[in-house]
Amino acid sequence: MPERAPLLTVEHLTTGFQVRDGFVPAVIDVSFHVSAGDTLCIVGESGSGKSVTALSIMRLVEPPGRIAEGRIIFNGHDLLTVSEREMQAIRGAQIALIFQEPMTALNPVFTIGNQIEETLRVHGRATRRTAPQQAIDLLAAVSIPEPQKRVRDYPHQLSGGMRQRALIAMSLACEPSLVIADEPTTALDVTIQAQILELLRDLQQRMGLALLLITHDLGVVAEMADRVAVMYAGRIVEEAPVRALFDDPKHPYTRGLMGSIPGGAPGTRLRAIQGTVPPLGALPPGCAFAPRCPERFDPCPKAPPGTTDFGGGRGVKCYLHGPAVEPQVAPPAPVERV
Ligand SMILES: Nc1ncnc2c1ncn2[C@@H]1O[C@H](COP(=O)(O)OP(=O)(O)O)[C@@H](O)[C@H]1O
Ligand code: SF4
Ligand SMILES: [Mg+2]
Repeated sequence: MPERAPLLTVEHLTTGFQVRDGFVPAVIDVSFHVSAGDTLCIVGESGSGKSVTALSIMRLVEPPGRIAEGRIIFNGHDLLTVSEREMQAIRGAQIALIFQEPMTALNPVFTIGNQIEETLRVHGRATRRTAPQQAIDLLAAVSIPEPQKRVRDYPHQLSGGMRQRALIAMSLACEPSLVIADEPTTALDVTIQAQILELLRDLQQRMGLALLLITHDLGVVAEMADRVAVMYAGRIVEEAPVRALFDDPKHPYTRGLMGSIPGGAPGTRLRAIQGTVPPLGALPPGCAFAPRCPERFDPCPKAPPGTTDFGGGRGVKCYLHGPAVEPQVAPPAPVERV
């Protein structure tokens, strides 16, 4: 039987910002897919382009930012070509985006219940009569205690963890098929983080969601991912099924990240790699990781490495794994895929 088409396929996405000196890419030639019931984690340090990738999928990149290249196929439609009106119908109803800070998505002047009811009604999921009970049911589904009371609370009356639960309830109101969660637990303390991750996992299994989970935390990856895409300076430098990645990380950057998670507990920060992500617009000409890489050799600073495909969903962009380059011969031609 042919394999089912992925729910979301991102192909060769390049998104960047127009500055005085020209176009500066923040996401460079990024490709990945997520299927129903599947969790793909995108992991990388701050500034590596994770949020810009998420915003690109939702078509929420604002000027001076723009999507310069690529295709984003969701449920058979190219999101970069549908009308803004169709996109509005897709946002919130079929694709939900959950942020790090729920307060930016919740309106402080309306109760949690009002906001969930409004979402349900706008998307035709409830009538004025049925919405209040549906809102309570949704709060119960995300394990908010005493939902019939909490539904009358304003966002500031809830704790950080409860607010994130309320936002998840609101996101799920229209039964989306894809949830993009951008650092959903980063602002929360470790115990609450674990609870929210468990909630997401539980909801994903119950609803068969495709989950794109963005994090800087390899502990979260270990808990949640089926597959992992490691992002560095705008590029996916390694992609692998989660076990393969932890058993045998192939990219020096991934190995560096692994070195920074003793025990792999959620909440542990990346800190073992010397140096910082290069600023946008000042990427080195070759492999962007070269200035920090303990294993760099001759070809690395000359041209960005292309992808070596290991099969089984594994790929890596690093000269250590080919394309074969002889250190003594003339500089290799650029192998960057476009
Ligand atoms: N509105 C913007 N204008 C200019 N640059 C931006 C804007 N938003 C993000 N960037 C830049 O894009 C890069 C990637 O950012 P982001 O995707 O937010 O990183 P991450 O989510 O991985 O921390 C960063 O260098 C950031 O400074
Ligand atoms: S291509 Fe070279 S510099 Fe880049 S990660 Fe591989 S070894 Fe390091
Ligand atoms: Mg981010």
